[in-house]
Amino acid sequence: MRRIVILFGPPGIGKGTVGKILSERWKLPLISMGDLLRDNVKNSTSIGKTAEEFMKKGELVPDSIVFEALNDRVKQADASTGFLMDGFPRNLSQAEMFEKIVNEKDSVVLLNLIAQDSILIERLSLRRICKNCGAIYHLKNIPPKKQGVCDICGGELIQREDDRPDVILRRLEVFRNETNPLINYYQGRHRVMAVSAGDNPDNILKRIEELKLWEQKDPTKLKK
Ligand code: AP5
Ligand code: MG
Repeated sequence: MRRIVILFGPPGIGKGTVGKILSERWKLPLISMGDLLRDNVKNSTSIGKTAEEFMKKGELVPDSIVFEALNDRVKQADASTGFLMDGFPRNLSQAEMFEKIVNEKDSVVLLNLIAQDSILIERLSLRRICKNCGAIYHLKNIPPKKQGVCDICGGELIQREDDRPDVILRRLEVFRNETNPLINYYQGRHRVMAVSAGDNPDNILKRIEELKLWEQKDPTKLKK
């Protein structure tokens, strides 16, 4: 059985931030589709060259590109006991593709992280990431010890290209129109749990731990 958690939620909700901590606690790799694509862009691969055009505008990258990146990643040895999925699936065809990756022995949970748009916009506007290792900071909420420098690797902190105000609004719109409706697809198919995620990371993590995900029987399995 693999433990598979879909970290679901809009841009800026904290999928990367909370995901990193849960990954360490639960000893499951965090597979971030955004990070995989950004690595491809950085390395100028063929995936990266196509993806960049879409990412700059806040649009979804074509499914075929995303599938290619994901397929390689989930087959790696560290994902054999499960993984946390950040940023996938984002539309119906991706959700259908995901069903081909999981099997009935897997325990799949979708954590639906929720907060108001005003909070998301504030978080994204002041986000900085490490150019080198991708660590995530926020100028006010989660600042680095030394301004402009990554605490972990000493790399330079930069603003993501898609964190410009117009692109942030477009990403929120794409989430509302194409991604959020997937909740209906998942209800009854896998466990879906809503988590209020508008306050500080410690509170969010506490709420997630209180769900006791790995102590519960999977109700979707009981039906079979
Ligand atoms: P992706 O990188 O996944 O971006 P996103 O979904 O827009 O989400 P973000 O990474 O912006 O936010 P997050 O939820 O991870 O928040 P974070 O932890 O950083 O995707 C980027 C692009 O790639 C897409 O637009 C698309 O083009 C493409 N793409 C990716 N996946 C795809 C797919 N499946 N199909 C097609 N295209 C795809 O936190 C945000 C900020 O808030 C940080 O500054 C952080 O420090 C701060 N913060 C976090 N939590 C808290 C908290 N609790 N309190 C205060 N501050 C907080
Ligand atoms: Mg992220």
